[in-house]
Amino acid sequence: MPSIQFFPANITITCGPGTDLLDAARKAGVAIDAPCGGNGTCGKCRVRVRSGTVKSISVGGMPFDAPEGTVVLACRSRLGDNDAAVEIPKQHTDTGGKFAGSCEQADQAVTIGPGHVSPLVETRATRVARPEKEDGLSDWDRLCNALGDAAPEDASLEALQVLARTVRGSDGNVTVTMDDRKRMIAIASGGSGHTQYGLAIDIGTTTIAVMLVSLADGEIIGVKTDYNEQISCGLDIISRINYARREHGGDDLRNHVLNAINRCIRQLTTDHGVSPDDILCVSLAGNTTMTHLLLGLPPEHIRLSPYTPTLHRVPPMNAGETGLDINRNALVRFAPAVGSYVGGDITSGLLGTEMVSGDEQIQLFIDIGTNGELVLGNSDFLMTCACSAGPAFEGGGVSCGMRAADGAVEAVKVDPATGLCDCTTIGAVKPAGICGSGMISLLAELVRTGWLDAGGKLRRNTDCSAIRVDGRKAYYILASGAQSASDSAVELSEIDIENIMRAKAAIFSAIALLTRHIGIDIEDLARVCIAGGFGRFLDITDAITLGLLPDIPEDRFRYIGNASLTGAYLTLMSQTKRELQQREARRMTYIDLSNDPGYMDQYSAALFLPHTDAGLFPSVKKPQ
Ligand code: FES
Repeated sequence: MPSIQFFPANITITCGPGTDLLDAARKAGVAIDAPCGGNGTCGKCRVRVRSGTVKSISVGGMPFDAPEGTVVLACRSRLGDNDAAVEIPKQHTDTGGKFAGSCEQADQAVTIGPGHVSPLVETRATRVARPEKEDGLSDWDRLCNALGDAAPEDASLEALQVLARTVRGSDGNVTVTMDDRKRMIAIASGGSGHTQYGLAIDIGTTTIAVMLVSLADGEIIGVKTDYNEQISCGLDIISRINYARREHGGDDLRNHVLNAINRCIRQLTTDHGVSPDDILCVSLAGNTTMTHLLLGLPPEHIRLSPYTPTLHRVPPMNAGETGLDINRNALVRFAPAVGSYVGGDITSGLLGTEMVSGDEQIQLFIDIGTNGELVLGNSDFLMTCACSAGPAFEGGGVSCGMRAADGAVEAVKVDPATGLCDCTTIGAVKPAGICGSGMISLLAELVRTGWLDAGGKLRRNTDCSAIRVDGRKAYYILASGAQSASDSAVELSEIDIENIMRAKAAIFSAIALLTRHIGIDIEDLARVCIAGGFGRFLDITDAITLGLLPDIPEDRFRYIGNASLTGAYLTLMSQTKRELQQREARRMTYIDLSNDPGYMDQYSAALFLPHTDAGLFPSVKKPQ
């Protein structure tokens, strides 16, 4: 059988002739961005043939043999009868082409102090009486007697298998761990000195974050993050739902996300010398689709009218059922969802805001990713909706778009006189593409300096060398082929600009609609909490200039980091927060924008820079 070798990861896999290169890469654990999920429409899965020949299909649908040096789409190319090697360009690879790295995050300031912890599982130390011939009591009977009212009502088989040995050791002193269903999941010899751990997990569409926590005092032992390997099956939720409909598609997606989570768990337990068997509970937050994919539930009804998921509230499970590599009897609790597009990540994220702490001022919570999720409210009400921002801010649907990784342009300065730009890249290396914050920065600069008009058209009839006009299309060049990390220029077309404008219009129109629903003006918002990875790098002034965020004083904006992970931590360690989350989820009113007659009007009005109603953006000055 022929083999295919992937560079720069230098990984070789043997496959049958005819295997498509994207599938081969997935099997080999090599990352190739595939925002459209392998449909041949996004053009992002480009690879260069390094040696041998692969069988490819041209844009016009003609099959051809692609020899060494040819750039082909991995999803439209197949392995022939002989060995071949391909090179994955830099913009696809954050970690040398293999999903192995971790991008640490530092915004975990919320903790629960030692005196206030009430973790998901309860630990009790007790002394079990010796067995006596006369009383006829079993080991289980004597354990339950010792625990009195706190006795377990059920037990895992593993815990029962070690019960006899454990109660006879340490002079009958044992520590029993029970989940919230009063099920004994572990028993250990000795008092309560044995350290036990829990995990808070956030499953994002792009990133997975896992936090290891000491259950005794709430101390955060460590955090690992990694890319959600499902990216190789599609960048956004809709592509993944489509992928799940393929034969074994659901299994692939489940395995990908479990690989990423379990890799983070392995790194944490190895780094901190913790036995996975001592991890006894998990609080998990993810959007509705991610939760379905993790559990192997069919996700297709989430995207088909009437948009009904299998469930909003996942019952507690044990780790063995879910596939997490920890104590198989550990309790896994899922954050409740509110709708198909407002999931547990949002009900978790809210826990770190004043909206759920009795504040009467009206605030907005917004999580910007491939979907924008919003919650508006105060201590009296919570209204929520989701809008499809599309993958533009994550690098999809934009020809030179990429995720926030080394080589991504993240900030731009444009010279008003010449129209030329000065780019700052992540990692201070040559530009390979542009990430979401870079797009916002570039467009805001072009608008401010007058090189881009309110309709998203670049200035023509100019000798500015950064603007290339080709027939009816115009492009803004951030870096020429010679200046970029590859030999191709990094440039943004007007079609790309249109896609970014659509994404920002989707978010702003959702904000406008929610405020209109409750009868307030946008300037009445007392605070805007921005969550999610994209928000971290967002320049508020630039976002207002484009009409992405409301034009209110900057000191009312607050970036709250990975709020979903923070919420998962809080619900791992506090019964009060668990009850609060259930209450808040119940009082959230979900608005389906697709059924709202006013949404399209709001959306169309927001398809300008900043907006057709300039009065909504008084601080945004017209260029001179
Ligand atoms: Fe290949 Fe989109 S074109 S994944």
